[in-house]
Amino acid sequence: MSWDLLLWLLALCVPLAFVVQLVRFLRADGDLTLLWAEWQGRRPEWELTDMVVWVTGASSGIGEELVYQLSKLGVSLVLSARRVHELERVKRRCLENGNLKGKDILVLPLDLTDISSHEVATKAVLQEFGKIDILVNNGGRSQRSLCAETSLDVYKELIDLNYLGTVSLTKCVLPHMIERKQGKIVTVNSLMGIFSAPLSSGYCASKHALRGFFNGLRTELATYPGILVSNIFPGPVQSNIVKNALTNDATQTLCNVGDQSYKMATSRCVRLILISMANDLKEVWIADQPFLSVAYLWQYTPTWAMWLTNKLGKKRIENFKNGLDADSYFKIRKTKHD
Ligand SMILES: NC(=O)c1ccc[n+]([C@@H]2O[C@H](COP(=O)([O-])OP(=O)(O)OC[C@H]3O[C@@H](n4cnc5c(N)ncnc54)[C@H](OP(=O)(O)O)[C@@H]3O)[C@@H](O)[C@H]2O)c1
Repeated sequence: MSWDLLLWLLALCVPLAFVVQLVRFLRADGDLTLLWAEWQGRRPEWELTDMVVWVTGASSGIGEELVYQLSKLGVSLVLSARRVHELERVKRRCLENGNLKGKDILVLPLDLTDISSHEVATKAVLQEFGKIDILVNNGGRSQRSLCAETSLDVYKELIDLNYLGTVSLTKCVLPHMIERKQGKIVTVNSLMGIFSAPLSSGYCASKHALRGFFNGLRTELATYPGILVSNIFPGPVQSNIVKNALTNDATQTLCNVGDQSYKMATSRCVRLILISMANDLKEVWIADQPFLSVAYLWQYTPTWAMWLTNKLGKKRIENFKNGLDADSYFKIRKTKHD
């Protein structure tokens, strides 16, 4: 082959590779490290067996789906949330569809805002299973209300639940992991922990606080390489999060939640969470486009991101006032995974 032809071929390959990567990015539903781990990394089915996994917020949405997928991997499960009858329902489904026996699942009612109960709950898990390999901090609530119209009680509730409740439970489990020099602390944060949007200022604050806390904790645990501190940042995912969101008054929830079907399937989000756990990923973004691109913009070009978020923010408020789901900016094509 002549040198000219070789150079021409090389010149063709560069734009081709660029186009392929661009198409892959436009179809991506997770950050590129996560998708690489999904393709080439360790499988949850190999890595997460025989573990004791404690999941908060296991009575609904992402937490509920997480325990269903975990129950197929041969782990021992601790299911926590406030509503015991919902946890019992989830346990029954795990036993029907998973590979577990009754003794492998502990239903442990827990209110994350009742900080005084967390130590006792941790002791109950250790008494039952003797160890905690993975704590999944997932329980939480969102918000749909404008700051100027919202009572301070809502802000307190969001910080007490999403931030302090999570910090408190983590602090109870941490000494055990430090003693064993191993464990995974996996926290389901939100893209709202990376950037902010209108109608959710208190939620964003609580999730930003969580990001700061766990990034700080990770640096303190640098001498314990066996302990993983992992922050998961999902974009919109199908669940009851909007139905359960706080509004301008801490005692009220939304009457009209709008269509949620355009959001990422819960099963896909959870599969990616399991892949991140199996591969010890420290920061993980899980979102369909265009939400994923917005996260990249905030990370690398914050000035453009602020401009764009202001534009989209107006539409978010308009959607909410019209009884639509706040994030339904455009008709988003369902992805290959739904
Ligand atoms: N869905 C999304 O679009 C999305 C996006 C980004 C991040 N997230 C995060 O994902 C996590 C799970 O939310 P989800 O979408 O699955 O919503 P969800 O369906 O509303 O589930 C929320 C879970 O949190 C529990 N919970 C609420 N208050 C609690 C309390 N005081 N103490 C203990 N548990 C409590 C609920 O159980 P009980 O009511 O029985 O207590 C429920 O199991 C949250 O941290 C949320 O911020 C969700």
